[in-house]
Amino acid sequence: MDRATSLLRGRVIFVSGATSGIGRQTALKLVEAGAYVVASGRDSERSKALADELGASGECIKGDIAQQEDIDRMMKAVAARHGALNGLVINAGVAPQTSLDALDTETYDQLMDVNVKGATFTFARALPLLAKGASCVFVGSVAGRKGQPGDALYAGSKGFVRAFARNLGTSPDVLRRGIRVNVVSPGPTETPLTARATMDPAVREYVERLIPMHRWGNASEVADAILFLLSDASSFTTGAEITVDGGMAHA
Ligand SMILES: NC(=O)c1ccc[n+]([C@@H]2O[C@H](COP(=O)([O-])OP(=O)(O)OC[C@H]3O[C@@H](n4cnc5c(N)ncnc54)[C@H](OP(=O)(O)O)[C@@H]3O)[C@@H](O)[C@H]2O)c1
Repeated sequence: MDRATSLLRGRVIFVSGATSGIGRQTALKLVEAGAYVVASGRDSERSKALADELGASGECIKGDIAQQEDIDRMMKAVAARHGALNGLVINAGVAPQTSLDALDTETYDQLMDVNVKGATFTFARALPLLAKGASCVFVGSVAGRKGQPGDALYAGSKGFVRAFARNLGTSPDVLRRGIRVNVVSPGPTETPLTARATMDPAVREYVERLIPMHRWGNASEVADAILFLLSDASSFTTGAEITVDGGMAHA
């Protein structure tokens, strides 16, 4: 058996926000590494397309993580079909640009309900299902470290994710269950989320100038870091943050 396909053989891994971008690349790489993937997202067409791609190595469950009942329903389905999870990727997120001058509570709630409350309850409801030896990876952002125009609220939401994950990863409550928790923080990455920015040459170049490696990342590069943290290759790593950002957070 080659090493690549045996890395995650037999592991059942839930990935939120798997119908697009980083989550989708992660789901596909996990399958290549031998895992069974329970993918989730909201969009019906993209869910169906992904389920077809995953084939016998996975499934796609529709659910909105801003809705508590959807998280409960998804985790009940996982429990009924698989009994337990060996891995969890909390990736689903939204990133609307928000001017604080014009901020309204509806915009605030939409962002926080997904990035903060959704991430929190996905972890909390999955926790009873996580088997000894399981690994959980949150997807944060380097925006939680450094300011850019219009991204303060998003950065705040990802600051929560980073702190939450790092705390959980070193918490006796979690470690006594034999579970590791880490966070991957991407820098600017070409996905549907950033399509408007990457398609505008002025914005694209402005961002490239902020990155020591002078280019955008791709979803596959972020997925590789997630895969490492889900695998036994990172068995002594918990409470850590890996930035995948061409050096941006340190520039
Ligand atoms: N791209 C970047 O530059 C970048 C940088 C740093 C961090 N990140 C973070 O990386 C993660 C993935 O981003 P991406 O760039 O891959 O974005 P993307 O292509 O827009 O994908 C986002 C995914 O999240 C899902 N999602 C959004 N809201 C949801 C909800 N309420 N319930 C369930 N699923 C939901 C979407 O599912 P549906 O479309 O099916 O609803 C989609 O699968 C996010 O947390 C983002 O903040 C991205």
